[in-house]
Amino acid sequence: MRNGASNTGTAGIEYFFNPRSIAIVGASDDKKKVGGRPLAALIERGYAGKIFPINPRYEEVAGKRCYPSILDVPDDIDMVIVSVPAAAVLEVLEQCATKGVRAAVIFSSGFGEVGAEGEAEQEKIRKLARESGMRVLGPNCFGIMHVSNAVMATFAHELETKSDSPRTLSLVAQSGAFGARMFEDATKAGVGCTSFTSVGNEADTEFSDFVDYLLDDPDTTIIGGYLEGAKDGAKLKRAAEKALRLQKPLLIMKVGRTRAGSRAASSHTGSLAGADEIYDAFFRQMGIVRIEHPDEMTAFAILHRDGRDYSGGRVAIVSGSGGHGVMLADKCETVGLSVPEIRGHTRAKLERSLPAFGSGKNPIDLTAAANGKPEMPSGCLRALAEDEDNIDVILTMPFFQWERSKELAQEFVDIYRSTNKPLVVMAHDRPDSDEAAARFALVQSAGIPILYDQFQATEAIAKLSWYQRKARQGRVVDTGPKAPDPASCAEVREMLRGGEPLSEFGCKQLLKKYGIPVTREALATSADMAVELSRNLGYPVALKAQSGQILHKTEAGVIKLNLASDQEVRRAYKEVLANARSYAPQAHVEGVLVQEMVRDGVEVIVGVTKDPVFGPAIMFGLGGIFVEALRDVSFRIAPLTRADAEEMIDEIRGRRVLEGMRGKPPADRDALIDILLRVSQLVTDHRDQIDELDLNPLVVLPKGAKVVDALITKRAR
Ligand code: COA
Repeated sequence: MRNGASNTGTAGIEYFFNPRSIAIVGASDDKKKVGGRPLAALIERGYAGKIFPINPRYEEVAGKRCYPSILDVPDDIDMVIVSVPAAAVLEVLEQCATKGVRAAVIFSSGFGEVGAEGEAEQEKIRKLARESGMRVLGPNCFGIMHVSNAVMATFAHELETKSDSPRTLSLVAQSGAFGARMFEDATKAGVGCTSFTSVGNEADTEFSDFVDYLLDDPDTTIIGGYLEGAKDGAKLKRAAEKALRLQKPLLIMKVGRTRAGSRAASSHTGSLAGADEIYDAFFRQMGIVRIEHPDEMTAFAILHRDGRDYSGGRVAIVSGSGGHGVMLADKCETVGLSVPEIRGHTRAKLERSLPAFGSGKNPIDLTAAANGKPEMPSGCLRALAEDEDNIDVILTMPFFQWERSKELAQEFVDIYRSTNKPLVVMAHDRPDSDEAAARFALVQSAGIPILYDQFQATEAIAKLSWYQRKARQGRVVDTGPKAPDPASCAEVREMLRGGEPLSEFGCKQLLKKYGIPVTREALATSADMAVELSRNLGYPVALKAQSGQILHKTEAGVIKLNLASDQEVRRAYKEVLANARSYAPQAHVEGVLVQEMVRDGVEVIVGVTKDPVFGPAIMFGLGGIFVEALRDVSFRIAPLTRADAEEMIDEIRGRRVLEGMRGKPPADRDALIDILLRVSQLVTDHRDQIDELDLNPLVVLPKGAKVVDALITKRAR
């Protein structure tokens, strides 16, 4: 490595944000040209470092000496902006490496995004970066901008939008144009942006490297991202864990929700796990806030700036319009906030401020009577601010022309200062007069968030509330049950070796090594033996022909259930063997499994699928039609923490079935959590050997739980 630096992860990324000198290859006086824009912007913003235009066609560009090539520059160069056609890029980069340049930003398109040839050229860039230690951003990117020190290494005109708001937000985007638009919209809405990075094709540096780096930036308190797909799931995980630890929210707009490109999978879990479900699960697990629209990110950033606690999620709505109040209440409840009825002392206080025909229940309707009577809304807001028991957040939709009342605007401020609760003003329009603008400014300067789009604001409040709960909880790495002893672990490794698939019996032997409880059962190799085993187990029993080559046993007719006598067992023994032979004549049949019948429990499924980005992902759901027809399942990435396991159970729509319904006792939740954690341990320890796993069904009993059937797919070699 010629530049002497380590060149992976965040190493050397600081040179993109704080370069002491910048050269622009393909520099131009023409501000309309891609190579002309950054030069003009650097000068206009007052970049304090040295600027070196590079272009063999000129002696001078923008009043600065222009050099024919990087190698002609007499000084050291920290960062180079490459704005030349793709065919010329590699040679320029080689010169950069020779010169000892630390960081190169490549705007040029025509690489990995255009097919195999471009991909091969991009690979050469990656190799050069790895060998030289020079970090590369792009190719095919909009570049980078660091507002604090006027590093305008970009040609996106949206990034020239200025703001006086305190800087909080850094943006990292896999789409330059989309990301630049996010930047512009956030800036115009009053969110101060610290930096913008368009990662392009990620030949060297990638999305997660920048997120990781920016988390250490004191001017970045919140990070927004646009992501099409993470290159390295483990890296994104590390960055997300760091974000949660530092309590800097990471908001990502992840596109591609459709199930396009579903992967071939033989297990049930595999077929239920679309790439988007896995991303969704990963985000929830890691405390990444998934946003659906850039405006949600802006609203979140505005709310987050007030530093107040939204985590309780109980909202009071104060409106001058009954209809709007109800609509907002509906929206709040839809997104997971609650709008509790207000009772007792606070209700009495509210009613003293309300007209006789108003409503103090929540949403609180002041009616048009509040117009010109600031004491009405202010009395209500005060009562809610003082309510310590039921309300966490106050939303006001002031249809009472607060912007025309200096007194009321001042009251908002005074009330806000008197409480620690968030108070959010939902405005209908931007101020339409100087007078109104002064009221907005007064309220905003006190720190009160003013938002315009009620629906997006409500989503943002719900997400901030969720995020704050998640951040408080942190990621406690409490994976529960201990790993098995090294000898059992080695035995499992041995069982998973080789290509031949495991039968149900084989899978269960393996599960037992990890302390996962399975049905009482034994393998019979004759009808007499089956009868003897059945008597020992106690009737009724189930019989299942065992072969690693017959994975779909019901379809093959090799299962017989509820056998209640010796005679039934003898008959079933013959039948399942005959069916096995006709279904798969070549299959090696190990014998017939004689198994206890498990009753009185709730059937669930626990599965594992291997995600190409994040590795083993664990699925949980209720069995039977819930999983088949409703896809009522939850996912998390292994290894699970206890909190992850709890969340997986609580997330499914049918969770009440586990709590005991219609006179049934509740299922043993702790036993279920224990199994989820043991499965997580198993697939984490043997991630290189297990591709898929299904415990289906796993029956959760009032006390304990048992795996009734299991399938483990060894890693295809
Ligand atoms: N060293 C220095 N200057 C060089 C050079 C070299 N090796 N090779 C070419 N140049 C100069 C040219 O003389 C030209 O100068 P001029 O502006 O005075 O004419 C300048 O570099 C640019 O070259 P040109 O051929 O005019 O290219 P261009 O400006 O039309 O396009 C790109 C260059 C990089 C903008 C274009 O190839 C491209 O990739 N565009 C798409 C960019 C994009 O959208 N990226 C982000 C997607 S998210």
